Amino acid sequence: MSKKKIVFSGVQPTGNLHLGNYLGALKNFVSLQSKMQCIYCVVDLHAITTFQKPDELKKNVLETVASFLAAGLNPEKSIIFNQSAVPGHAELSWILNCVSRVGWLNRMTQFKDKAGSDKEKASVGLYIYPNLMAADILLYKATHVPVGADQKQHLELSRDIAQKFNNDFNCRDFFPLPEPLIQKNISRVMSLRDGTKKMSKSEESDYSRINLQDSADEIMKKIKKAKSDSEQIPDSLKSLENKPEALNLINIYSEISKVNLEKVLNEMSGKEYSFLKTKLAEILVSEITPIGKEIKKLLQDRSHLEAILKKGKRKASIIAEENLKNIREKVGLI
Ligand code: TRP
Repeated sequence: MSKKKIVFSGVQPTGNLHLGNYLGALKNFVSLQSKMQCIYCVVDLHAITTFQKPDELKKNVLETVASFLAAGLNPEKSIIFNQSAVPGHAELSWILNCVSRVGWLNRMTQFKDKAGSDKEKASVGLYIYPNLMAADILLYKATHVPVGADQKQHLELSRDIAQKFNNDFNCRDFFPLPEPLIQKNISRVMSLRDGTKKMSKSEESDYSRINLQDSADEIMKKIKKAKSDSEQIPDSLKSLENKPEALNLINIYSEISKVNLEKVLNEMSGKEYSFLKTKLAEILVSEITPIGKEIKKLLQDRSHLEAILKKGKRKASIIAEENLKNIREKVGLI
């Protein structure tokens, strides 16, 4: 088996990425790109498992690419492209639909959450979404997959599918079993209004999240209004167990200032949350607003963004086509 390490990750083109996407994914993507071959894909085929307005989908794909670049991804180092541009994703996902089992998909908790109470009305695409995700990863024989904790179950499914393919077609080690890279400290940035929910684009109140394109003023207002706690900052993590909003602010501060949690608590215990909020707002403004400005600037030049996608597509296609040729051969497709 080839020992080469290949990183693959996918981001849904929701547009308007936020602090959760930045701390939970993009920052890590950037640090990986100087260590391994990295492939970062804007997963438009996953997006359409729930209805997307066509014009918005296009806009959101470009906005996601702009956010990648503004956060520091370098198209000379990483392969950056959109999923639908490489037809191998759809082709391999069909083959894997025939390897994956109905019983496996029935256990996926994200489908249950997303399909809601009326599962009969969910698209078939939403149901087999995890098989497409396995195809994304296996098409490049990726070995490492940076994902949020919510994608862990899907990644385990990808491993099961890879293993079953290797067994069924008698080709041990053909697909490497992809390893998740889940960030320990900050697997989840939570909503500023409800510390038990993930920060999300779909939460109604804009005060629940810091968008990468927020102005300094907006960031300061949102942090000021964020839920915290009426008591002073405690000296131990244990005292924060039932205070998810307070813990979330401390977590974000620790992550973005690169000071570990214990040290933050050491420095701040006994102070009011307003002290933490002032510091947090300052550091967020200095790290996030330049990224927001860069995103806006990049969005002015659509042809530049399209050219980056095209170049990424070319590079991704070379790997995908070579692997697909061997996959077809294994399966017995002429
Ligand atoms: N399902 C992932 C999410 O919603 C996105 C995704 C699609 C992905 N394909 C992938 C992530 C392959 C990692 C690897 O976050």
